[in-house]
Amino acid sequence: MTKPYVTGAAGACPAQLRQWFHGRRRELPWRVSVGADGLRDPYRTWVAEIMLQQTRVEAVVPYFEAFLAHFPTVDALASAPEDEVLAAWAGLGYYRRARHLQAAAQTVVAAGAFPITATEWQALPGIGPYTSAAIASLVSGERLPVVDGNVKRVVARLNGLELRRDAPALHRASEQAGSAWMKQLPTADLAAAGELNEALMELGATVCKARQALCGECPWQSSCTAFQEGNPHAYPLPPRKKEVVARRLQCLMIGAGKHWRVSQRQSGWNPGFFEPPLMQSGEEREQFEAAHALLPGRRLGEFSHAITNHRFRIEVWHYPSEGGEAVKATTDLALTTITRKALAIVQKSI
Ligand code: ADE
Repeated sequence: MTKPYVTGAAGACPAQLRQWFHGRRRELPWRVSVGADGLRDPYRTWVAEIMLQQTRVEAVVPYFEAFLAHFPTVDALASAPEDEVLAAWAGLGYYRRARHLQAAAQTVVAAGAFPITATEWQALPGIGPYTSAAIASLVSGERLPVVDGNVKRVVARLNGLELRRDAPALHRASEQAGSAWMKQLPTADLAAAGELNEALMELGATVCKARQALCGECPWQSSCTAFQEGNPHAYPLPPRKKEVVARRLQCLMIGAGKHWRVSQRQSGWNPGFFEPPLMQSGEEREQFEAAHALLPGRRLGEFSHAITNHRFRIEVWHYPSEGGEAVKATTDLALTTITRKALAIVQKSI
């Protein structure tokens, strides 16, 4: 049975959390204040928050230091060749982040100043509500709560909210809790908002962990519903499992050796990567053969491939006619995994 809905702040007091954070916080290279007010350097903070978007703190640290050594200022980043920026990002993945970061650096340099408010930060490419709240709170002291998976877990447990991890209601409850905590901060303390946001993320990452809640170390233990119930790991509820979708596809390998007919994917999975024609059915394949004056193909085999909740079974058909990339060997291009698997079958069979 769902409990009556409660606001997210429970009796937990931000002063206790901040005090805990003062004693416990990890020394991280972006946690450097500039000036007596305790606010952070905008460039370092921004680069760190972009790197932290899809990557764990431990993995970010060495890249952050090398990146800052290579591009010590926003001007250096803005004027660097794109290849160098991508090379410094290599290993972090999600290269769109690096491209956006450089485009945003060029906007900042053209404007002559860094943004101040979260709304201004959000106008830059690659910066959404979460990242803009983190940066503006740390750099300008704006009193905006950051809501990430760690914060949502803390709020769900504090209040005993029987909500799924990905439920919009848990996101809203966490924003409400964050806003309520922000209102309790001392008004004259400019660094307080950023510190509260980092402390909440830190509590979720190091104490109120998903699979191992260390309640004995938690500054909010006495206000926590899940602790009182003795079942912290019951919150939040797991996301509803996505239904598995089984599909058959036919992959048309037209060409030979290193030269295959491919096109660049524009949207959906793997945009920018190259793939041969994929058909939904035998009928569609025969229509394609007719439209491109291909002699009927030979079926070489099939393989499985999974993407998110889709389970594909893919037949490989071979057409030995010309059709490959004229200039570059197809195999030098960025190919999707489906294409690589199909090529392996072709190479074994012909
Ligand atoms: N994750 C995202 N931003 C962070 C920060 N400033 N400190 C620790 N973890 C984070």
